[in-house]
Amino acid sequence: MSASGNKQPILQVEDLAVAYGHIEAVKGISLSLNEGEITALVGANGAGKSTSLLAISGLVKAQRGRVLLHGQDLLQMSPHRIVESGVVQVAEGRATLTTLTVEENLGLGAYTRKDKDGVARDLEWVYSLFPVLKNRAAGLAGNLSGGEQQMLAIGRALMAKPKVLLLDEPSMGLAPLIIQEIFRIVQEINKTGMTVLLVEQNVRQALRIAQRGYVLETGKIVLEDSGANLLGNPKVVEAYLGG
Ligand SMILES: Nc1ncnc2c1ncn2[C@@H]1O[C@H](COP(=O)(O)OP(=O)(O)OP(=O)(O)O)[C@@H](O)[C@H]1O
Ligand SMILES: [Mg+2]
Repeated sequence: MSASGNKQPILQVEDLAVAYGHIEAVKGISLSLNEGEITALVGANGAGKSTSLLAISGLVKAQRGRVLLHGQDLLQMSPHRIVESGVVQVAEGRATLTTLTVEENLGLGAYTRKDKDGVARDLEWVYSLFPVLKNRAAGLAGNLSGGEQQMLAIGRALMAKPKVLLLDEPSMGLAPLIIQEIFRIVQEINKTGMTVLLVEQNVRQALRIAQRGYVLETGKIVLEDSGANLLGNPKVVEAYLGG
């Protein structure tokens, strides 16, 4: 193995297929996440990005395939066990509990953990990543802006102490400055060593911060490369970057 080829896969998806009735949303995809890297999964509306994440999280049932975390197949586990084993998803559309406070939402993220000291440390870490959440800790989540709710959704996932963080379109529906902020924070989270699978329609920004990426079209992986190479790939430029 060469010095530069020492990236270890932490999560390997093999031949994953998911259908909703007769609709084959994901048609046997394989992808591999290197430990400590951001991997982008990009594609158009309806390509199957969310379905792929939901299957990895155990929230929709796969027809076939394997999702291996350190050799253990997540497809054989309940969603609860998958979170406990370290794969934590931030759902599309944020889904914070609007009638609970910001801090209560963050506390829920840690529901599987028993290490109280670690939870307290991670709460401070989340507040340092998102100072606005600290300022609004006692306020209802429902009163947060869209960008703040996205921050809360990410913060809540971090409170579960993930090994692999699955992000489903964190920039969706946000103003450009907030989008910049979200991408910056995703990078900052990754710098702590956390592995991230980033689903985005904001292809340019996602590939800029991702070490590697996959392009999904109608349920199939059509391209796989480094983020930089994909950004320069004429097919990607034409289909996703308005080239
Ligand atoms: N609950 C569902 N029931 C039936 N079909 C579904 C369901 N969810 C998604 N689909 C279909 O599965 C396919 C993949 O959808 P999916 O939501 O995974 O795509 P996506 O890449 O996340 O799209 P978007 O960028 O719009 O979020 C689409 O054809 C979609 O209409
Ligand atoms: Mg989606």
